[in-house]
Amino acid sequence: MTDSLGLRIDIDRLIDRLAALAEIGAIEGTEGCARLALTDEDKAGRDLVVGWMRDLDLDVTVDAIGNVVGVMAGAVDGPPVMCGSHIDTVRTGGRYDGNLGVLAGLEVIETLRTAGITPPRPLAVGFFTDEEGARFPPDMLGSLVYVGAMSVEEAHGIESIDGEILGAELERIGYLGPAPLPGGVPHAFVELHVEQGPVLEAEGITIGAVTGVQGISWTEVEVTGESNHAGTTPMTLRKDPGVVAFQTATFVRELALELGAPQVGTVGRIELHPNLINVVPASATFTIDIRHTDNDVLLEAERRVDEFLRAASAAEGVTVETRSLARFDPVVFDDRVVDLVAATAEAQGLSVKRMPSGAGHDAQMLARVCPTGMVFVPSVDGISHNPAEHTEPADLEAGANVLLHVMLELA
Ligand code: GLV
Ligand code: MN
Ligand code: MN
Repeated sequence: MTDSLGLRIDIDRLIDRLAALAEIGAIEGTEGCARLALTDEDKAGRDLVVGWMRDLDLDVTVDAIGNVVGVMAGAVDGPPVMCGSHIDTVRTGGRYDGNLGVLAGLEVIETLRTAGITPPRPLAVGFFTDEEGARFPPDMLGSLVYVGAMSVEEAHGIESIDGEILGAELERIGYLGPAPLPGGVPHAFVELHVEQGPVLEAEGITIGAVTGVQGISWTEVEVTGESNHAGTTPMTLRKDPGVVAFQTATFVRELALELGAPQVGTVGRIELHPNLINVVPASATFTIDIRHTDNDVLLEAERRVDEFLRAASAAEGVTVETRSLARFDPVVFDDRVVDLVAATAEAQGLSVKRMPSGAGHDAQMLARVCPTGMVFVPSVDGISHNPAEHTEPADLEAGANVLLHVMLELA
């Protein structure tokens, strides 16, 4: 370990920044916030964080997908040890998801600046555009483009759930930047994040050394039937797309239970048209999110869902079209970084568990280009993607201190 082992982050400063950022898009009466990607709220959040980066004298760049990276010079030049995450949220987001990884990165840098320490290599903290994918699918979009796995042209053409085009929205909020893409390959990448699940809390463990991220499959389904009068149309003569949507939602749940943990399956969005009490719907549009750590099981789940959709649609006499919104294979993080996270936590007297991530993260994209790992801290009641999301200050502090020392060691 480095000779700066005793160095600690300032938890009050970190909490103050988390609170200030959470005021932007705050959901009244809760701790949560709504900053969907590339909205006015996202812009205001970005401006705040970029201001903090400039206050810390970081060299700030913005690329053509709106990813923002701030670099602190090291004793020698070269690829930085990078950390970061995202500051966009789902519409009903908490204040920690993503934001913690970014603001803890700033805290790491401010701690070093205050202590007068220049790291051997440069350190970078970044926030990636549209990690949530809730407005512009797929999720982890900014980091996907950063590593060159999707072209910036394709990304610019993506349409949001509210009908806006990504490139135009980036320009509108002033975050269509000049930095080259794919982005510079870091020496290593590490992301601090709240677990967003119940495991650490249930087991009384403070730090998760994340071993990888499960595979993610997102599909949008559009079912078209025949709209008709709810009072006069006999049940046997209906072509009701809503029924197929609800049957599929039930099937996805039953399938996940049949395949067993860690298989999960969610129908999170269903839109019926015209969505009226006395009208058999004309169409149903809905989404399917299925995830598993084993790609073979995930492929099997995808096959079974598709088979069910076709059969249920045929039985109802409706037509069905599917569109893949995201498909990412499971990711395994670099053993050396996972070991370093675990060893760093232990050296600080913290309990640690090696565990996979159920949620998607920017780190899974960075893992394609450099040694990568993640640090998890517990989520109270395992709640996330909910304004009630909470992590105790002592756990935030522990996680940020692990991030600090992992970054120093990597540097
Ligand atoms: C992204 O955060 C996801 O896991 O849905
Ligand atoms: Mn996140
Ligand atoms: Mn999230």
